[in-house]
Amino acid sequence: MKVRNIQIQYEEYQTDENLRESDRVLIKKAEKALCNAYAPYSEFKVGASVLLNNGKLISGSNQENAAYPSGLCAERVALFHAKSKYPDSVIDAIAITASSDNFDINHPVTPCGACRQVIAEVESRQNREIRIIMKGQRGDIYVVNGISNLLPLMFKEENLKRSKTKK
Ligand code: THU
Repeated sequence: MKVRNIQIQYEEYQTDENLRESDRVLIKKAEKALCNAYAPYSEFKVGASVLLNNGKLISGSNQENAAYPSGLCAERVALFHAKSKYPDSVIDAIAITASSDNFDINHPVTPCGACRQVIAEVESRQNREIRIIMKGQRGDIYVVNGISNLLPLMFKEENLKRSKTKK
């Protein structure tokens, strides 16, 4: 038996002043997008904004449902919209943020497991890493370059390829 370690890396920013301009623009778009969230159940309004290599910005917000699992996170709304509209363009970055009228979100909003899996598939399709910028209403901002920093040992399309059993 061996115990192995995996290292992940994230950047931590106290304010958005030290972020690159394109990150700040993307955060602003995500903040705007969360105003269109439909989150009557959680009261946790999330906005996500995607930057494509064709310069386009596509945003999404979480859309909840009385049948809870039927709702969708802001990240997947934005990513699926972007890939539906521009299937061949590369996604360079995604910014995620959240706000609530009823509680304070003072930590960076990190994507849920299902959204991480979707980001992983987009990276595989485009063979390029995605920069992920995570912010709360206030507090630190985290940035990772590539989903492997949020989803080590991820399940990938190549895991589906079965090797033939030898006779
Ligand atoms: N949510 C997102 O939209 N993105 C995240 O990264 C975390 C969770 C949504 C799902 C649900 O509508 C609400 O936030 C509470 O989980």
